[in-house]
Amino acid sequence: MRKNIVAGNWKMNKNLQEGIALAKELNEALAADKPNCDVVICTPFIHLASVTPIVDSAVIGVGAENCADKVSGAYTGEVSAEMVASTGTQYVILGHSERRSYYGETVEILEEKVKLALANNLKPIFCIGEVLEERQAEKQNEVVAAQLASVFTLSAEDFSKIILAYEPVWAIGTGLTATPEQAQDIHAYIRSLIAEKYGKEVADNTSILYGGSCKPSNAKELFAKPDVDGGLIGGAALKVADFKGIIDAFK
Ligand code: 13P
Repeated sequence: MRKNIVAGNWKMNKNLQEGIALAKELNEALAADKPNCDVVICTPFIHLASVTPIVDSAVIGVGAENCADKVSGAYTGEVSAEMVASTGTQYVILGHSERRSYYGETVEILEEKVKLALANNLKPIFCIGEVLEERQAEKQNEVVAAQLASVFTLSAEDFSKIILAYEPVWAIGTGLTATPEQAQDIHAYIRSLIAEKYGKEVADNTSILYGGSCKPSNAKELFAKPDVDGGLIGGAALKVADFKGIIDAFK
């Protein structure tokens, strides 16, 4: 059966020393009180090589927040999937709405990134979700279906390595959360698309996380929904007490 996962996305926060301190504190907190779900922290590139060896890999996975859409070469400032993997990192967030909107990442670019991540044994946490105007126009299902095109060219075997994260853009960093019912409805729809494409077994085994203003006070209700398999956490992942409060929603 599919895994329950709570993943943190640090975004562009924490310098190296602060990031190491946060990872150590989380590692200690989870060593003292073992989680009932998989836990992942996704950090800026510069933290990966330092954070990976200091967390207990049996309890906390480490991920990047992006990787390049090219293998290697003259792409100044880019970081390849192979480089990410060489730090011991196991996951990579791809397709986050901030990358799509601020850095012009298209369905085609994301398809390349996903393939390169998989070729380097990184597990993609692939994000999809609609903006407010699309939700108001009741176009959210169409939008996520179109975004899934980046991963629906994969073989069933490769698709099975993907974790999906549904993040309504209007709920990210705004304090507005999708209601548990809104999350359940669209997660069930996403799972039905996977079942159509890859069959029921693959669909049942795919973890679909919710992201967008998830916090200790609303995590339990969201995660209680049958098609919500955990969360992708932004702001609340930057404080151990908050992040652990969300992890503890699975207890
Ligand atoms: P917030 O939890 O800060 O709303 O961010 C969600 C997110 O974008 C995680 O990727």
